[in-house]
Amino acid sequence: MVTALWLYLASTEDLRDPALTRYYEALLTEDECARRQHFSTDRLREEFLLTRGLVRRALSSHSGIPPTAWRFAKNPYGRPMISGPPGAPPLNFNLSNADGLVACVVSAREEIGVDVEVLDRAAETTAIAEQYFSFSETAALKTLSGPLQHYRFFQYWTLKEAYVKARGIGLYMNLDGFSLDLTDGESIRIRFDPPAEDETSAWHFFQFRPTDRHIAAVACRASFPPELKIEWV
Ligand SMILES: CC(C)(COP(=O)(O)OP(=O)(O)OC[C@H]1O[C@@H](n2cnc3c(N)ncnc32)[C@H](O)[C@@H]1OP(=O)(O)O)[C@@H](O)C(=O)NCCC(=O)NCCS
Repeated sequence: MVTALWLYLASTEDLRDPALTRYYEALLTEDECARRQHFSTDRLREEFLLTRGLVRRALSSHSGIPPTAWRFAKNPYGRPMISGPPGAPPLNFNLSNADGLVACVVSAREEIGVDVEVLDRAAETTAIAEQYFSFSETAALKTLSGPLQHYRFFQYWTLKEAYVKARGIGLYMNLDGFSLDLTDGESIRIRFDPPAEDETSAWHFFQFRPTDRHIAAVACRASFPPELKIEWV
């Protein structure tokens, strides 16, 4: 049996089309319109608008519910989830945005998380790893240098973020209490420390480059190995 996950991607470049911008603006609730005004830059306002539009379109493509009808609430850790309309299917979704790229992952029932990051920025890779990553991840990172170390850092970063977002806990979770194993040619595995914390075999990960500038990771808890379908919207 194959579990399907859908990852929808969109670029803020698309908002150069005034008709699309107007379409997305018409989907915002009053509260979302107010939130949009609070962002400090045009780029953040655009990412916010595109994220709200993308999640509504994505969820509607998996149900008979029109994009304007969706309502959202947040769990105590800030994770958005569906709160309406009444009778809405219990779809899971998660969102991420980074420098013009917006991602929305949807599943029928599995816990899922997504993270996208932009690669062409400086990062104090080993210093951040020592603060947040597990001992084995930090040690693996230190065996590398230059662009390889930079890339490996963002591999760990996005995978760890995707996992904590799938759990719905975000950074309230200890990031050094679990490790990602990245062995070339093998599927990505997670290990927990202490081992009883979560079930290693239940977790599945995907990692890829949606653009030349971005790296993305998806984490999913599923009984069967999932298939990830990626669609640019
Ligand atoms: C908020 C957090 C969940 C993700 O933040 P982020 O990576 O900066 O931003 P992303 O664009 O990937 O994700 C933001 C979206 O995640 C969703 N989100 C927020 N809290 C969430 C949670 N607890 N669980 C799952 N998803 C959550 C929201 O949809 C949010 O976007 P919105 O506010 O526009 O709806 C959290 O993990 C965080 O603050 N990370 C900071 C980055 C960091 O320091 N990482 C450490 C190195 S691994």
